[in-house]
Amino acid sequence: MLVDTKEMFKKAYEGGYAIGAFNVNNMELIQGIIAGVAEKKCAVILQVSKGAREYANAIYLKKLIEAAVEECPDIPIAMHLDHGADFDICKQCVDGGFTSVMIDGSHHDFEENVRLTKQVVEYAHSKGVVVEAELGKLEGVEDDVKVASGEGSYTDPDQAVEFVERTGVDSLAIAIGTSHGAFKFSGDPKLDFERLEVISSKLPKGYPLVLHGASTVIPEFVELCNQYGGDIPGAKGVPEAMISKAAKMAVCKVNIDTDLRLAMTGTIRKAFMDNPSNFDPRKYLGPARDAIKDMVMHKLDILGNVNTL
Ligand code: G3H
Ligand code: 13P
Ligand code: ZN
Repeated sequence: MLVDTKEMFKKAYEGGYAIGAFNVNNMELIQGIIAGVAEKKCAVILQVSKGAREYANAIYLKKLIEAAVEECPDIPIAMHLDHGADFDICKQCVDGGFTSVMIDGSHHDFEENVRLTKQVVEYAHSKGVVVEAELGKLEGVEDDVKVASGEGSYTDPDQAVEFVERTGVDSLAIAIGTSHGAFKFSGDPKLDFERLEVISSKLPKGYPLVLHGASTVIPEFVELCNQYGGDIPGAKGVPEAMISKAAKMAVCKVNIDTDLRLAMTGTIRKAFMDNPSNFDPRKYLGPARDAIKDMVMHKLDILGNVNTL
């Protein structure tokens, strides 16, 4: 069933686990994710970025997600806008049937981030849609925005409290050392768990936090890509133990895109090399869809979100 994130976050907070928020761009991703979620019996967030809407055409993505909802009436599925850059795209998604939108004003100064987020919250809430915002800057690449290394900034706990109070936003993405993409750390991976603890202790009890840039960049899948002609040297993500730890804390939503990309790309590369005479797309997209299912099931184990319906 199509739901917003309120109930799933409440259960996740109380149960000490996190909901997987998976980026979707095409049919095989959606089918693979849903197959994994159905087997693990848990709620899921399917999230759509601006780039995904441009790639697939917003209406196709929406209809594919609706197909998943129809196929699996017992699974709570949230349709979420990832990194909405302005009021207009959030409004379009609210009006278009999304149950959750993210307004990402993290690149603005604090006052403008508050103003913009509040504007989206007022509109979305009037239509029964929940809102995620971001405070603090993650390094890395998202759509057109690239935050250079060293220009990220961690979330200030007191500002987080003021931000939530003034905007009324339903969940908050925080910066504690994660970043988007496949190259998250040049040295040892490190997240500021102390900051996470302080932020959650200052916010109202049960307030859901969100971790972006949370892929693990699993070495096996980087190697799979590289072994079959890829060139992704030095890729490194957030160790699984850190994700599990955050999921047991106040983090209720963990965003995963890069790990899906690596699983899909590695599997397709292998299928091309293993069967060079094949030119039936189903023969490489099918295995890629299976790989997405396996990856999602593994991720749900790491998030502690199994049998939670
Ligand atoms: O945060 C970014 C997500 O990985 C989505 O990536 O903007 O290239 O679709 P995208
Ligand atoms: P990754 O690049 O670590 O998968 O993060 C995805 C994300 O945060 C989408 O909003
Ligand atoms: Zn993100």
